[in-house]
Amino acid sequence: MPKRHVQKGLWNHLMHKGVDFGLASIIYEVAVASKYIVHAMRTGDLGLAGTSNLYGEEQLALDVLANEIIKDRLDHTGRVKSFASEELDDILIFERKGHKDYSVVVDPLDGSSLVDVNLAVGTIVGIFKGENLLQPGKNLVGAMYIVYGPRTTLVYSAGNGVYEFTLNSLGEYVLTQEEITLKDSNKIYSPGGLKKDYTEKHAKFIDFLEENGYKLRYSGGFVPDINQILLKRGGLFTYPALKNSPNGKLRLLFELNPMAFIIENAGGMASTGKERILEINPEKLDQRAPIYIGSKEEVQLAQKFLNE
Ligand code: AHG
Ligand code: MN
Ligand code: MN
Repeated sequence: MPKRHVQKGLWNHLMHKGVDFGLASIIYEVAVASKYIVHAMRTGDLGLAGTSNLYGEEQLALDVLANEIIKDRLDHTGRVKSFASEELDDILIFERKGHKDYSVVVDPLDGSSLVDVNLAVGTIVGIFKGENLLQPGKNLVGAMYIVYGPRTTLVYSAGNGVYEFTLNSLGEYVLTQEEITLKDSNKIYSPGGLKKDYTEKHAKFIDFLEENGYKLRYSGGFVPDINQILLKRGGLFTYPALKNSPNGKLRLLFELNPMAFIIENAGGMASTGKERILEINPEKLDQRAPIYIGSKEEVQLAQKFLNE
């Protein structure tokens, strides 16, 4: 009788890997929340919520709903003290009783402007020990993202490898890739921002990539764009400093740090072009930073062009 291949579920994997019970509970609850977000995306109202977020951007009903779903589930774990979200103006302190020894930063729905054109979007989560979440990303103890695409997949790292899970037809997340590791170089790149706004040094770097046969792969969704580089085992994503926005567009707490944590755990690098993303000491919740993230050689090449 051939051995039935028992696919490893998320919880069994986390326990098998010895992930701290509290941290595992948070990762698992976000996985549960993602199923409700999938449902909302498939059936819900894609219109505007009539409110705006801390960046002054109009929120889609889905942005707000995704935030509510994740916030409530994390509160229910009794493990989370502080909660900050791209969709909230301030840090939320959960009052519920419990062993609240973690704090969480979330972009509940990244790329929400892509939902109505049916392109892949995602959720990004970073987890710190303790209640302070305004600290450098190097202090993260875990990070994860969900890709809502043709398949719903979850990628996480708790500092001991990078793993991918896929939501199956029974609603379980099963292990589909383990110990994901980037090659030192790979010829795909995602160039965020408008060419007309590039600084001279960044423009020279992009021209170099083009002249050397790098394939342009850009969906406009940070999560699927990063996920592509991780699963193709390398390449480079950049959303650079632009002439009129020296800090680029992406948010340090909610987007860059969690992804930088994951990519570094997969053997890659994440830099502003001048310094390591995970070293930045955040002063405010809505801080932005330029980013070059992916395979070591491409990130180091970008640094060379930017510091010439
Ligand atoms: P969000 O939907 O959370 O505001 O993030 C969107 C971000 C990110 O997903 C993507 O990399 C970037 O916006 C794309 O920006 P452009 O539309 O300027 O390319
Ligand atoms: Mn975002
Ligand atoms: Mn968002």
